[in-house]
Amino acid sequence: MGERRVAVRVTPDALRQVRGGHPWVFDRSVTSVSHDGAPGDLAVVFDGSRRFVAIGLYDPTSPIRVRVLYHGAPATIDDGWWRDRLRIAFAHRRALGDDGRTNAYRLVHGENDGFPGLIVDRYDATLVVKAYSTAWLAHMRAVVGALDELASPDRVVLRLGRAARIEAPHLDGVALVGELPAEPVPFLEHGLSFEADVVHGQKTGHFLDQRDNRARVGRLSRDKRVLDVFACTGGFSVHAAAGGAVAVTSVDQSAPALATARRNMVRNVDRPAVRACHHDTVTGDAFDVLEGLVRRGERFDVVVVDPPSFASRRASVPAALHAYGRLAGLAVRVTEHGGVVVQMSCSSRISAEELETSVQRAARGAGRPLDVFERTGQPLDHPIGFPEGAYLKAVYAHVR
Ligand SMILES: C[S@@+](CC[C@H](N)C(=O)[O-])C[C@H]1O[C@@H](n2cnc3c(N)ncnc32)[C@H](O)[C@@H]1O
Repeated sequence: MGERRVAVRVTPDALRQVRGGHPWVFDRSVTSVSHDGAPGDLAVVFDGSRRFVAIGLYDPTSPIRVRVLYHGAPATIDDGWWRDRLRIAFAHRRALGDDGRTNAYRLVHGENDGFPGLIVDRYDATLVVKAYSTAWLAHMRAVVGALDELASPDRVVLRLGRAARIEAPHLDGVALVGELPAEPVPFLEHGLSFEADVVHGQKTGHFLDQRDNRARVGRLSRDKRVLDVFACTGGFSVHAAAGGAVAVTSVDQSAPALATARRNMVRNVDRPAVRACHHDTVTGDAFDVLEGLVRRGERFDVVVVDPPSFASRRASVPAALHAYGRLAGLAVRVTEHGGVVVQMSCSSRISAEELETSVQRAARGAGRPLDVFERTGQPLDHPIGFPEGAYLKAVYAHVR
């Protein structure tokens, strides 16, 4: 398990990339392998002079043929290795939750923490490990053993990304430590109460990366009517209500996600601001819902637009930019003059500049130019270890 090794030779360009710290070797860059390896075998990348370049996880089923764990000097990947890497990742999160108001965050952010294709999210005493490649299954015992030792969780739940789920569907949503929770797992985000369906929910149950943007939106929401488009489980909606919004409308195509959003709102009704806020949810396609709101002449003071990644492939970047622009054009039409639009992109292939340009162009096209007042990225628990790691962008703007 995992001790089997495959010697891999790659193109000069891939060699340069790996030596520069890039964590992926694509199948098209592999020039030779010593033998047919299995997912999770350790791949050792050599240069033309048979010198060690990097060690990683081999995955013959993925276009990312090698996920690099380490480059430079030869390294032994054993239980101690995983423990040391986890210790470093944990240390980088230490400041989070020091005030006792947040107990859910990303403990391991894939490539950016030296675990390419593996996520570990913490929801209080529950850890969710999400593997995006079955290469990780061969190392799961060692990784989960180290997690157990360092974090002493009540339970560890395994989730699989889409490609891994196709290969091993029976392993998605199983408990690796303890038992599966009978109910969604409660947790705190900036002092507000939420629940996450860690077994069936999207990603690991909650989009933890928007924590700081939600707090910002909360601070902008006093006495405002807020529209939360792509609301999912209502992170922005609940922070807006707690921040003093008079009304919040949450829009998403997922009925189960909106059911969670409603429960998340109810979890916080001990706060007078949340109790006083009128909350409604609309299930449907965001574009259709926004067009309906435009037709009816409805207006909001704060509009949050947090779509899924529209550019999962390089070829879809132009279509993604068009979709961001379309959304922004609709968003400004339903925003009061002087109101705030917050447009996000979670696509690593779209730069902050491209997002802002497409949003500005669409807003001007709608006759409502924007004055940008803030640009943000990812929070502390989502470090950026390589260019593609910088995926989250947000633009905050006033409608002129
Ligand atoms: C990035 S997540 C949003 C996260 C959310 N804002 C939060 O703070 O937790 C994207 C959401 O878009 C929803 N979605 C995807 N396509 C959609 C569409 N065409 N119309 C409405 N919702 C959609 C998904 O169900 C998902 O909840």
